Amino acid sequence: MREYQGLRVFDLCSLGCGASVLAFGCAPMMGFCDRAKSLRALETAWDCDINFFDLARSYGYGQAESLFAEFARGKRDRLFIATKFGIEPDTSVRANAIRLLRGGFGGFRHLCRKERGAPDREDAFSGHWSPTRLRRGVERSLRELRTDYIDLLFLHSPPARITCRPELFEALDGLVSQGLIRSYGLSTDSFRAASGLAHARYSIKAVQYPYCPASGNTDVLTDPPDSVILNHVFGGRGTMRSAPAWIEVLERTAGLPSETKRKLRADEAASVLADVLINAAFNATGAQCVVISMFSPDHIAGNCRAVVEGSRFAATELTLLAHALRHSRAAEFQR
Ligand SMILES: NC(=O)c1ccc[n+]([C@@H]2O[C@H](COP(=O)([O-])OP(=O)(O)OC[C@H]3O[C@@H](n4cnc5c(N)ncnc54)[C@H](OP(=O)(O)O)[C@@H]3O)[C@@H](O)[C@H]2O)c1
Repeated sequence: MREYQGLRVFDLCSLGCGASVLAFGCAPMMGFCDRAKSLRALETAWDCDINFFDLARSYGYGQAESLFAEFARGKRDRLFIATKFGIEPDTSVRANAIRLLRGGFGGFRHLCRKERGAPDREDAFSGHWSPTRLRRGVERSLRELRTDYIDLLFLHSPPARITCRPELFEALDGLVSQGLIRSYGLSTDSFRAASGLAHARYSIKAVQYPYCPASGNTDVLTDPPDSVILNHVFGGRGTMRSAPAWIEVLERTAGLPSETKRKLRADEAASVLADVLINAAFNATGAQCVVISMFSPDHIAGNCRAVVEGSRFAATELTLLAHALRHSRAAEFQR
């Protein structure tokens, strides 16, 4: 059943096909979330009008892309698929054990395949950025995703020295010309890396970086490429679990109008905090999209509602609340 209609789409990377302004982050697939939970979450997101999915070769110990392909069957032309190159799946003994546990027989098959062609340890830790490795990574992603094109290929947390590798960008342009990828961009969990690299340009069409006042990430990219996507907007798994404490902190903010205090108490703490974090991110950065990891159906529906219906807070209130979150976090660290 389609619970929420009307999630907006935007022209990601100017490709002329719409991507939902709320994207589904696939990092926990086959890691924190097993196969059944992952498929259920993907279907729920789809029912809520999300068509933009953010994957990586490394997610789920290398299994997220192939699981995604099961969900994507019959939907390819309506999906916007981003995946990433540059970090190899973890192939340590512990990772292989988790892969088996999460994947059942599929995990076992995958494990046999990986052992035959496992990358060396240097790749796993330093990333690998040669044109040959790029092509191999993209071909592998295409096979796993069971598609013949990737809408957006991100360089996955690349080092700054990547900008001195014009041959890599030429190879990326070549993949675009061949139609194997439709565009490429940068995805990182560091704002500094994003700003340093995004300005190197080449034909970088999109950049993904973290924004979350509750975890101290409040820098905003000036002069960004075509499309900006924010990640880590909830500060990962920990922040939302402490939502009641964060709301209490916000309520104590000096000079907060009583009407804003009333709105902070108007609903369950997690859903109010989600509203603040999602809408403050859009409000402060001008980004077109936020990507969230959300594997609980209630969270998916709630986050879609926060985007579709907009915030219960006015823009000025969101600015005030974001400021309060950032400062209370800083104070917490100084204690
Ligand atoms: N270097 C990179 O390229 C990079 C780095 C970081 C992130 N990313 C991308 O960004 C995505 C998200 O980032 P993140 O992993 O930092 O996580 P996040 O989106 O900041 O937070 C995810 C956590 O928030 C919870 N949550 C979601 N909606 C909620 C709600 N309405 N109420 C309460 N809790 C809620 C989720 O729980 P449930 O799962 O139980 O719903 C999960 O524990 C990743 O999946 C990945 O696609 C990319």
